[in-house]
Amino acid sequence: MSRKFEHLSGGDLFDYLPSIVDLFAVTMLASELFQVEISKEATQERLKRELEMGMQATVAREEYKLVGVTTYSELDLDTESPHEMLSFKHKEIMRCLKSLGKTHHISDFAFLSRTFVDPDCQGKGVAKEMRQQTLARLKEDHPDGVIVFTNHQSNNTRIIRSSISLGFKQTGIKQTWQAIEGASAGEYLNNEYWYLVLK
Ligand SMILES: CC(C)(COP(=O)(O)OP(=O)(O)OC[C@H]1O[C@@H](n2cnc3c(N)ncnc32)[C@H](O)[C@@H]1OP(=O)(O)O)[C@@H](O)C(=O)NCCC(=O)NCCS
Repeated sequence: MSRKFEHLSGGDLFDYLPSIVDLFAVTMLASELFQVEISKEATQERLKRELEMGMQATVAREEYKLVGVTTYSELDLDTESPHEMLSFKHKEIMRCLKSLGKTHHISDFAFLSRTFVDPDCQGKGVAKEMRQQTLARLKEDHPDGVIVFTNHQSNNTRIIRSSISLGFKQTGIKQTWQAIEGASAGEYLNNEYWYLVLK
């Protein structure tokens, strides 16, 4: 089956949100790492809010079926307005940035937030290709360099292996937080933050 990868933003990405929400639900249900009930409505609302803040995505399709997605957000500290700085992802970027100090002299940042691949298509390099294409695009769009952050549950060995092979390094920042909006108390994830300098 032929597999296609494409970049989506704005209205094009908005049209895909229901399929992305379905993909998240199917993938999380099949994963031993996410033992929580997800509310599709809450996920859809959260994605809509992130899209309003400029979220983009690289998706993988087999014919018309969505089989993978990687979402990400960008932040340019030189031009970003305070309103945009309030976005959740941007706050995470600022926190990670503090941990690195001012050693890189780069003012553009991105956060890769979610990578999900349909359980039937896992282990075939879909995540790798989506993430490589996302990084290649970021590199092209930021000729003066960009620092990319991401976070992973500390026991999610597959995505951690993928990040290490793409060159990500640990920031040293860890955070424990509630898994999903609407999840019951006590359902927490231990997240570790990673970074990659693209220049
Ligand atoms: C994590 C996930 C996105 C990986 O997608 P994938 O398309 O199967 O990943 P890839 O085939 O590109 O492989 C990624 C890495 O995981 C490793 N991997 C793949 N399948 C594996 C398996 N069954 N067991 C152990 N490692 C495996 C690969 O060796 C690869 O490492 P490499 O890049 O060094 O070669 C997918 O398993 C998934 O959707 N999991 C549930 C959601 C999730 O945990 N998302 C990440 C946090 S948001």
